[in-house]
Amino acid sequence: MDAVVIKTPAEIDAMRRAGRMAAETLEQAARMLCAGITTDDINEFVHRHTIERGGIPAPLNYRGFPKSVCTSVNEVICHGIPGSYRLKDGDIINVDVTTILDGWHGDVSATFYIGEPSPEARRLTETTLLCLETGIAEVRPGARVGDIGAAIQALAEDAGFQVVRDFVGHGIGQRFHEGLQVPHYGKRGRGLRLKPGMTFTIEPMINQGTWKMRTLRDGWTAVTADGRLSAQFEHTIAVTDTGCEILTAFLEPLPNSPDM
Ligand code: MF3
Ligand code: CO
Ligand code: CO
Repeated sequence: MDAVVIKTPAEIDAMRRAGRMAAETLEQAARMLCAGITTDDINEFVHRHTIERGGIPAPLNYRGFPKSVCTSVNEVICHGIPGSYRLKDGDIINVDVTTILDGWHGDVSATFYIGEPSPEARRLTETTLLCLETGIAEVRPGARVGDIGAAIQALAEDAGFQVVRDFVGHGIGQRFHEGLQVPHYGKRGRGLRLKPGMTFTIEPMINQGTWKMRTLRDGWTAVTADGRLSAQFEHTIAVTDTGCEILTAFLEPLPNSPDM
C-alpha cells in the first residue's frame, strides 16, 4: 500500500468542491437516461458538462481509458466503455463520474433503472445501495477498514448476493487512486485504523450470482463470469472527528434509482 495521505481542513474543503461537482454532474446525467439513448450520449454529456464548469473528467486517458465516464450495463460490473450500445427497457446501468477540480478528485456512481426493471434487478440494486449506506455507517475515527467490508458482506450475502473481490474502494485526493484500499468484504476488527482527515471511496459491486469476473478484450470492461446482473453505488467520504462526511452527497433524489 502506498502512503495514506491525511488531508487538512482546507484540503477537505477543496475535495468537497470537487465532490460536489462530480455529484452535480451525475444528478444532471441521471435526467437524460432513458431507453433509446446510447452510452456515448452519456459520455458526451458528462464530458461537456464537466469541461464547461472548469473541471476535468478524470477517466479520460487514465491508464489508457478512452472515455470521460464509465457506463456499466447489466452484467458489466464496472469500467464499461461508452459506445454505440442503445439503452433498452429493463436495463440497469451504473454511471460512474470522477471529476478533477483544482487538482482534487471527486468520485461518485449510482445504478439506474431504464424503464421498468425486473423484481430481481430492483432487489439487487436496492440491496447494493443499502450496502454502500451500511459501509458508510461504519466510518468513524478508530474503526477499522475491515469493519466496512464485514458490514457490507453480511448484508449482501444475507440477501443471497455476492460481493465482487477484484475491485475495492480506494484512497482519493490529488490522485484518483492513492493510499488505502477498502475491500467490500472482510472481517470486523481487521485492517487499517481510520483517522480524521482520511479520504476514500466506498463502492460496493454486488452480483446476483457468482462474484467471479472476467475482463473483455477491450482490456477494461469487467463482466460477471456467469452473465448475471451486477450493481454498484459509490461515494467519496472523509473521516471527521466524530464520524464521516459524504463529499459527493446529492442535493436531490436521483431519478430512476432507489432512494432510501
Ligand atoms: N471511477 C472508477 C472508480 O471508482 C475508476 C474508473 S478508472 C477508469 O474507481 F479508467 F475506468 F476510468
Ligand atoms: Co472509485
Ligand atoms: Co468511480
